Amino acid sequence: MNLFQVYPLFNINPVKAEGSFLWDDKGQKYLDFYGGHAVISIGHNHPHYQNKLKSQLEKISFYSNSVQNDLQTELAKKLGELSGYENYSLFLCNSGAEANENALKLASFHNGKQKVIYFSGSFHGRTSAAVSVTDNPKIVAPVNFSERFIKCEWNNVAQLKQLFAENQGEISSIIIEGIQGVGGIVLPTEEMIQTLKNLCAENEVVLIMDEVQSGYVRSGKFFAHQEFDIQPDLITVAKGMGNGFPMGGVLISPIFKASNGLLGTTFGGNHLSCAAGIAVLEVIKNENLLENSEKMGAYIESEIQNFNHIKSIRRRGLMIGIELDQPCAEIRSNLLMKHHVFTGNSNDANVLRILPALNITEKEADIFIGALNSVLEN
Ligand SMILES: Cc1ncc(COP(=O)(O)O)c(C=O)c1O
Repeated sequence: MNLFQVYPLFNINPVKAEGSFLWDDKGQKYLDFYGGHAVISIGHNHPHYQNKLKSQLEKISFYSNSVQNDLQTELAKKLGELSGYENYSLFLCNSGAEANENALKLASFHNGKQKVIYFSGSFHGRTSAAVSVTDNPKIVAPVNFSERFIKCEWNNVAQLKQLFAENQGEISSIIIEGIQGVGGIVLPTEEMIQTLKNLCAENEVVLIMDEVQSGYVRSGKFFAHQEFDIQPDLITVAKGMGNGFPMGGVLISPIFKASNGLLGTTFGGNHLSCAAGIAVLEVIKNENLLENSEKMGAYIESEIQNFNHIKSIRRRGLMIGIELDQPCAEIRSNLLMKHHVFTGNSNDANVLRILPALNITEKEADIFIGALNSVLEN
């Protein structure tokens, strides 16, 4: 059987990884400043993560959500403490799209309404409702299309107010990324966030904050939205949560009532994934990665800001968008092929996306900085 080829692939086959480095099958070493789409939060194969997973494997790796699972409770407690959302509850699932799918559904169950507002430039995943609120017609199949999903221009407060007025009483939820990632590291304005907050409160609309990419300390705060005075009703997480172990979750405000069967999943919250999730939170706390994320992000920004061809840098913590005065494809390819550094692209052709592990050192940052300088000079 052949693979169904939907991915453009680099001709690189990584067989080993440690911290911020990968090695391919020919022994070539690479610096990973992208974490496989923002997934690697505490570094590849962190010893604490490895030990936690290994010892869990020796005990039990899976049973369904029909039995008690103390690891889920421990994970929820630690996540609540570290994120500042101790009074919220947690629903565990397997990916970012699934987290958003459940959040959109929960909002609609809660208020009985059908319409959803989303933003230009958004990416919320590829499952049914999640892709319907994703601003990329190429990945929205006809079966996913519905006029119930209404697009608002990013940071356009006047349009947002108008959409609320035009659809009064019909909007169930509004979904927004803490920081747009796939869109090219695009930040919301304070004005937009405050407007959203007020409109949602006045109109009984559920505010869903997608922190799948911007959450878990990526932005220098536990959640990117914590830069503002706002508490979303639902917060979705995935990516960095499992450091490569597939998992996702929805943090749910106390206004929502749980009932048997309302949401569900076979694999979500399984023992192995919880062990991975707990290990990630423990490393974030014990190694003070919140501080490192902002410190190293600021260091990289200050070192590269005067490089040739850089038009602007959009950054929070270690979520960095480098806007070039030209498309970044060739720069990215040179970084990888000549300097062996992984970086990411985005839907904005000129923006290079930098998402290293949260525990990078200055020495590792310097490798990236030197490589970037070299490719931008030539
Ligand atoms: C903000 C955001 N939400 C949701 C998703 C979808 O996550 P997943 O690929 O785990 O389904 C992504 C993936 O890139 C994302 O960046």
